[in-house]
Amino acid sequence: MRRKISILGATGSVGGSTLDLVTRSPDRFEVVALTAATNVASLAEAARRTGARLAVIADETRLPELQGALAGTRCRAATGREALIEAASDEAELVMAAIVGCAGLEPVMAGVEAGRTVALANKEALVTAGSLMTEAARRAGATILPVDSEHNAIFQCLAGNRSVDVARLILTASGGPFRNASAEDMAKATPEQAVAHPNWSMGAKISVDSATMINKGLELIEAHHLFGLAPERIDILVHPQSVIHSLVEYVDGSVIAQLGSPDMRIPIAHALAWPERMPTPAERLDLARIRSLDFEQPDEARFPALRLAREALADGTAAPIVLNAANEIAVAAFLDRRIGFTDIASTVQRALETITPQPPQSIADVIDIDREVREKAHEIMPLPAN
Ligand SMILES: NC(=O)c1ccc[n+]([C@@H]2O[C@H](COP(=O)([O-])OP(=O)(O)OC[C@H]3O[C@@H](n4cnc5c(N)ncnc54)[C@H](OP(=O)(O)O)[C@@H]3O)[C@@H](O)[C@H]2O)c1
Repeated sequence: MRRKISILGATGSVGGSTLDLVTRSPDRFEVVALTAATNVASLAEAARRTGARLAVIADETRLPELQGALAGTRCRAATGREALIEAASDEAELVMAAIVGCAGLEPVMAGVEAGRTVALANKEALVTAGSLMTEAARRAGATILPVDSEHNAIFQCLAGNRSVDVARLILTASGGPFRNASAEDMAKATPEQAVAHPNWSMGAKISVDSATMINKGLELIEAHHLFGLAPERIDILVHPQSVIHSLVEYVDGSVIAQLGSPDMRIPIAHALAWPERMPTPAERLDLARIRSLDFEQPDEARFPALRLAREALADGTAAPIVLNAANEIAVAAFLDRRIGFTDIASTVQRALETITPQPPQSIADVIDIDREVREKAHEIMPLPAN
């Protein structure tokens, strides 16, 4: 029996790797729906190639273009919120959630509430609505499988063990392109330098998040919700080679790690095939060639975003939503050359200091808080340099 899969964010980096794996295993998967924001050409090409029955473009103005590109196929072109929710919750048994940012929250929740198996790459959805989402998954009997390489590694290291025997989780971090850069150099960093990740090939937003290291802070919040551990039992360890993807320490002192070459197709394949395994074309790990693995403590003075994320999680209110939204608008402004690299963390800090909403009771509340932060962007971001 082939599993029916929807790929949300099919035109992105994770979406593309998922399509690569799915089209290599046509006997395992049947693609039912694909979505994108604006990239009609890639979406239509993927829909034709996979035989998907639904293609959703979030940008409503591009629907006629998508309809034209899909003319003569059995694939229905659609747009809007309802269509995104349909893609996540209607026919699919397995949903790859690979939209970037809080924009993915509603479709992810739709998949969870429909009791689907959700392969979750879209970490911002869990950062902004963690407790609401894990509670909804419990109620609906949905399974959330982590795709982020670190969380996927932890998931693998936990297999066959009791959660009460876990002492701590250790999330590894590459340190990003500015691991050894001075604060002065970081202040002058360009978008081209920030997206040039030393080990991973990823979308622009997560690449900048890795450069500021807020990505590791978002992952800390994600790990807290996925695995139910208190934040003080989740450590961050810089490991520049990105070979060990994360570790779990048990009460007896044993430490279990998951290793692999830095290729997202490995954790994606794990989530797609779970509880089985499937082959991938990823490069095999050659430890004799790598020879040594290095580790160091993260530097929270040069990477303040890491500390801000830890504080937002400890705050226990709506702070992670504010942190995430402020980061999303600041990263977009940096990529657009309207603010500098170090302004990203200061924008997030200013947002956390000035916007203090009530804890959300529902997904609608999360979306309202996210919108409030975006509306206040002009108050929290520095003025553009002329
Ligand atoms: N890339 C990685 O290796 C990696 C690793 C771990 C976790 N993740 C997480 O996975 C998620 C996706 O990352 P990525 O690097 O694959 O991002 P990406 O390359 O930028 O792709 C993002 C996808 O989301 C779509 N999208 C963007 N804005 C949207 C909106 N407002 N509404 C609906 N769809 C929208 C994009 O469509 P268009 O192409 O039309 O813009 C694209 O298909 C992120 O949450 C990231 O943190 C990524």
